[in-house]
Amino acid sequence: MANDRPRVLSGIQPTSGSFHLGNYLGAVRQWVALQETHDAFYMVVDLHALTLPQDPKALRDNTRLAAAQLLASGLDPERCTVFVQSHVPEHTQLSWLMECMTGFGEASRMTQFKDKSAKQGTDRTSVGLFTYPVLQVADILLYQANQVPVGEDQRQHIELTRNIAERFNGRYGNTFTVPEPYILRETAKIYDLQDPSAKMSKSASSPKGVVDLLDEPKASAKKIKSAVTDTGSEIVFDPENKPGISNLLTIHATLTNTGIPELEQKYAGKGYGALKTDLAEIVSEWAAPFRDRTRDFLDDPETLDSILAKGAEKARAVAAETLAQAYDRVGLLPSKH
Ligand code: TRP
Repeated sequence: MANDRPRVLSGIQPTSGSFHLGNYLGAVRQWVALQETHDAFYMVVDLHALTLPQDPKALRDNTRLAAAQLLASGLDPERCTVFVQSHVPEHTQLSWLMECMTGFGEASRMTQFKDKSAKQGTDRTSVGLFTYPVLQVADILLYQANQVPVGEDQRQHIELTRNIAERFNGRYGNTFTVPEPYILRETAKIYDLQDPSAKMSKSASSPKGVVDLLDEPKASAKKIKSAVTDTGSEIVFDPENKPGISNLLTIHATLTNTGIPELEQKYAGKGYGALKTDLAEIVSEWAAPFRDRTRDFLDDPETLDSILAKGAEKARAVAAETLAQAYDRVGLLPSKH
């Protein structure tokens, strides 16, 4: 792995079971591309998942499942570092220093926290949910990441990371790389098939609006065929007036690496049904090998766990060095034991 490459780091929560088309086309596909040009670190953020109640067995299974799907998507442990957050204890250790650098008001202004805690009420909101963004700051700064590929909804957390890095560097001397957000391309934003004004999302969409990559091919074909479309009959990319058809065109274009204008031409004079039938087949054909690869990893948990152990070892080498420096900078007495 060439060290002169810029470093990227990102994380995905192990809470969603199957990845859906939105996760894949909106994020994971870019992660796969970035391993060719960057020194890339990708993790399953199981500690972040604990901010909401989790069933222990389900959490463990979902952590393996998320890792298996990342590998099935094309992340190659020879070309990037794939690991599980809790396997690298430095995350929680640095997080404490970061908590002590973060203002209470500053953390209170995080919109994701405000939304989630407003929904649950303060009594059911854990302190962990409040400090979630600060753990994310530690995740990023530990690896001296130059860029953080995330969706638009994470912009505020990256901004917090930059502010805290600058504050720490100002107070204690240059310690952390100040990262840039790398907001994933708008074209790959995938919407709910039943409500194309909303992002495709496990927590917010109805099951019929989300195409799970691990679904049976028949089930995903059915969801695509019953996607909500717009009035009229022409197949043109017009997100404002034709959000449903535009969403289907985006999915088609990204999965087949075809330009939208080319698709518009291909479907000129044809009805919505033709596009849906083709797309249903494209998605099923694309998802079949993904499902097989995921299943292979899950059927052989020893191999999967050993890939993750190697990933954690590589990650820890970087994280431990940063943590030691940060401990030293703030004046913690080194332990001789
Ligand atoms: N909060 C991120 C999300 O919900 C997940 C995450 C945790 C993350 N730690 C990170 C993303 C570090 C990027 C970098 O999507």
